[in-house]
Amino acid sequence: MTTYLEANKQRFLDELLELLRIPSVSADSAFSSDVRRAAEYVRDKLTAAGLDKAQLFETPGHPVVYAEKLVDPARPTVLVYGHYDVQPADPYELWQSPPFEPTIRNERIYARGACDDKGQFYMHIKAIETMLATDGLPCNVKVMIEGEEEVGSDHLGTFVAEHRDMLKADVILISDTSIISNETPSLETGLRGLSYVEVEVTGPNRDLHSGVYGGGVQNPINALATMIASLHDEQGRITIPGFYDTVVDLSEAERAELAKAPFSLDEYKQDLAINDVAGEAGYSTNERTSIRPTLDVNGIWGGYTGEGAKTVLPSKAFAKISMRLVPNQTPDEITDLFTKHFTAIAPAGVTVQVRPHHGGLPYVTPTDSVEFEAASKAFEDAWGKKPIPTRGGGSIPIVALFEQELGIKSILMGFGLDSDALHSPNESYGLFNFFKGIETIPYFYKNYAALKS
Ligand code: BES
Ligand code: MN
Ligand code: MN
Repeated sequence: MTTYLEANKQRFLDELLELLRIPSVSADSAFSSDVRRAAEYVRDKLTAAGLDKAQLFETPGHPVVYAEKLVDPARPTVLVYGHYDVQPADPYELWQSPPFEPTIRNERIYARGACDDKGQFYMHIKAIETMLATDGLPCNVKVMIEGEEEVGSDHLGTFVAEHRDMLKADVILISDTSIISNETPSLETGLRGLSYVEVEVTGPNRDLHSGVYGGGVQNPINALATMIASLHDEQGRITIPGFYDTVVDLSEAERAELAKAPFSLDEYKQDLAINDVAGEAGYSTNERTSIRPTLDVNGIWGGYTGEGAKTVLPSKAFAKISMRLVPNQTPDEITDLFTKHFTAIAPAGVTVQVRPHHGGLPYVTPTDSVEFEAASKAFEDAWGKKPIPTRGGGSIPIVALFEQELGIKSILMGFGLDSDALHSPNESYGLFNFFKGIETIPYFYKNYAALKS
């Protein structure tokens, strides 16, 4: 296996770079033909890798790419999931090299989507190609790569429900998460859910002269700022009534287990250039970013933000707010609690509208399954180290839906690093991680086939 990889390393990399040149930004309709081009590229590479039936499935949004290689009905079936869409690349001026002109510096590939998720799902296509070209593929494999993950996978739930038979599998394998470091491999055992809302606060029916009216009416920006500030208390806890009611608290033993993951607070602060961390009292930074729910303002606007000064008392103020959820919170419940509370705390003189965006359920995967064991052993085989189980802070909303719709658990075998700058300028993916992933994935198939037989 290693020899095939060695012999084809440059081509594997060149193919990924080609994919990274396609600006498949799902959020912006200006890129929709590029999104389709990326889907077609992935389809063609699946065919070239030796998979059957590679095709695009149309949805009301961006297409889903699917292919399969069914070797033996007696063998277990692995469903690989990934996403070929990427986040918008702006602000462009903060990139050291253009986001869609992949560049290799310091043994890293710099490009939008390098890690999230093109670099990561492409490892699977190359790992499958390697298995097919060498000692064979020990499991059946189905590959589904979607184009709407970064905008909430709105149409994938329906697609999955309508293609239950086609997608039937024993396990879902996903590389779209991170490891602790290249020295300390890890396997994520959970994802946070998400509830995302936009709020609009309206004061007077028009923008006013801030001298003529200032002091006499509510300023919606002042009101919004006060309301947002009240959403956390002194302990860093969220003040929305009922917000924590369904939260599953981990046992001391579970917390002790998670605390075994190596972590340096100094390095963390240094990396982010902050003089201190912040968060919910009584929890470590790792806990705050994984097993605890959060509420964060993602954007806030209103009034005059152009050059110079304009003395205006605005009519409206807006904010986008995300809440990361943990078991057993649900986006519907939390969005509802938020809406009731946010409306209730509006001071007299303004009105509030809350508009829900996409959401997703949190997810936890058991660590005592043969699937987890196969993944854990794959890391041991390729890295010479047992991976540390961790709980992730990000969200992949479709994972919980896969379990609901298909009854299949997912294994989160990501190879990225938190420092890969996902969604940020200068996103990158290590060449080491790309090639090590291609080397690790076939061990999963080998171990899984052996454990299931
Ligand atoms: N791959 C990420 C999620 C992720 C990153 C999980 C790192 C664990 C570690 C995914 O593409 C993503 O960005 N998800 C979004 C949610 C979506 C609904 C926009 C997120 O987490 O913000
Ligand atoms: Mn992703
Ligand atoms: Mn992402």
